[in-house]
Amino acid sequence: MGRIGVLVSGGGSNLQALIDAIEAGAISGEIGVVISNKPEAFALERAKKYGIPVEVIVYQDYDSRLDFTAAIVKCLLEYRIDLVCLAGFLRILDRLIVDAFPNRILNTHPALLPAFGGKGMYGHHVHQAVIDSGAKYSGATVHLVTAETDEGPIVAQGIVEVADDDTVTTLAAKVLEVEHRIYPEAVQLLLEEQLKIEGFRVRKVKKS
Ligand code: GRF
Repeated sequence: MGRIGVLVSGGGSNLQALIDAIEAGAISGEIGVVISNKPEAFALERAKKYGIPVEVIVYQDYDSRLDFTAAIVKCLLEYRIDLVCLAGFLRILDRLIVDAFPNRILNTHPALLPAFGGKGMYGHHVHQAVIDSGAKYSGATVHLVTAETDEGPIVAQGIVEVADDDTVTTLAAKVLEVEHRIYPEAVQLLLEEQLKIEGFRVRKVKKS
């Protein structure tokens, strides 16, 4: 049974999608801990409702990004986590976590990477950039986390049409729905080890 650690900072709708998928038997794993850098994150309330242990690790309590990341890694190891899901987690982590969980960290990004990713591309900034670009489609990407922000191998994507009258709010809502569908799928693929990773390419391999 895979033990999943989920890192959150906000509302936790992606966490909820993972919880719902586990409850529905679509993910063969369990969430061992939810860690937030924000004590007030509503995601923590969602976890508590299902009796999932929660931990708060506040960035400002540490002298460096490295120390902050080390505290998170220590917590994940204490909870015997073997798959880490960043779900609305808004802090950049030191590469220490990638070394601790190689090819075992997923993140969801609200655009079609490699486009509209990287520095400053989070939350509404992403959707505003997509609308301003005139792109006709956007979507969501679930990718493996590497030392570079938003550059890991892509595990799953889903698309939405960018309508002429779309606003940041309406586009964000459409993209979030895609995230809630593809994130659980990506987690299950990783847990069932149905993925072959070659450079940036991730291919599904049939389980023998
Ligand atoms: C989502 O759009 C996700 O792509 C981004 O954070 C947003 C909110 O996530 N990383 P959640 O509702 O807190 O899961």
